[in-house]
Amino acid sequence: MTKELKNKLNDLDKDYSAKIQSCVDLTALQDLQVSALGRKGELTELLKSLKDLSLEEKKILGPLSNDLKNKLNTAFENKRSELEAAQINAELAKTDIDLTLPAYTFDKGRRHPLAIAQKRMTDILAKLGFVWAQGPLIEDEEHNFDALNIPKNHPARDVQDTFFIKNTFKDCFVLRTHTSGVQVRTMKKQKPPIRIMAPGRVFRKDAIDATHSPVFNQIEGLYIDKNISLADLKKDLTVFMQGLFGKNAQVRFRPSFFPFTEPSVEVDVKCVFCEGKDPACSVCKGTGWKEMLGAGIVHPNVLKNCGIDPEVYSGYAFGMGVERLAMFSLNIKDIRAFYENDMRILEQF
Ligand code: PHE
Repeated sequence: MTKELKNKLNDLDKDYSAKIQSCVDLTALQDLQVSALGRKGELTELLKSLKDLSLEEKKILGPLSNDLKNKLNTAFENKRSELEAAQINAELAKTDIDLTLPAYTFDKGRRHPLAIAQKRMTDILAKLGFVWAQGPLIEDEEHNFDALNIPKNHPARDVQDTFFIKNTFKDCFVLRTHTSGVQVRTMKKQKPPIRIMAPGRVFRKDAIDATHSPVFNQIEGLYIDKNISLADLKKDLTVFMQGLFGKNAQVRFRPSFFPFTEPSVEVDVKCVFCEGKDPACSVCKGTGWKEMLGAGIVHPNVLKNCGIDPEVYSGYAFGMGVERLAMFSLNIKDIRAFYENDMRILEQF
């Protein structure tokens, strides 16, 4: 019995090793594997029959059959890889593709320095609880001026400063001269507490020079709730500037005037380049400070114009120039660097 089975194993070994060797396609190889090792395969059947043998016989034939099973499995795998590789090579031989040629290179895009700067600012404001708000770039005079307590004869309304668009539907539209109109739009449709940031493009009839552009970007901030005071404004803007320029950043508030805030302030940041120590500093011109933004306590008239009771609510607003802050933090001396698309400059950020 043992002898007979040993011979059978030997025969299977020889037979299948030879067949695998001479196999030339993958389907035939698959069939061959099934006929040897499938559920009803020859070797499988033989392994099943081992259970009827005596213990002594099992001890000899068990390991022998398992060795053969492993040997054939490996042979099948090797042959399969060999045939697959041959198939791929045959496909490639049919085409003109030269895989030895270097691959095409393409330039990776990157964020524009202004986008980087704006994202840094809005990220900090978002952490302070400001949520995103938006308004149209083409605005009516009501939202850009009237509701903001800017009288008809205010110089900002001068055609020297504002791009007016005449049309037949309404007296006039303007290209918004600041993002403050978003304050009005938000307060008209939302009840306090309100805490919004409104980044976006604004337009003024300025000639282009190193610090002016007729199109630039601002971020408006507005916080309305009960008992909001200048102290809240000071704290929040200080934290904001420290987030932007480092925790040693110093902030200075100077009295100023805007029709839509009372009191109004201009906010300066201590020069991060000379820290106020270099009288010849080209960034702060030796003053030690750099003006960053306008802000103030929202004027009661503005709250009233937007349907909010100034006896119950108060709040602060600020508007900052993204280019101005970006130029300061990235030490860019000329605003035109942002718009001229000179890759030698843009690639530095
Ligand atoms: N809108 C003002 C400007 O464009 C900035 C500002 C916004 C000032 C909010 C006070 C409050 O100059």
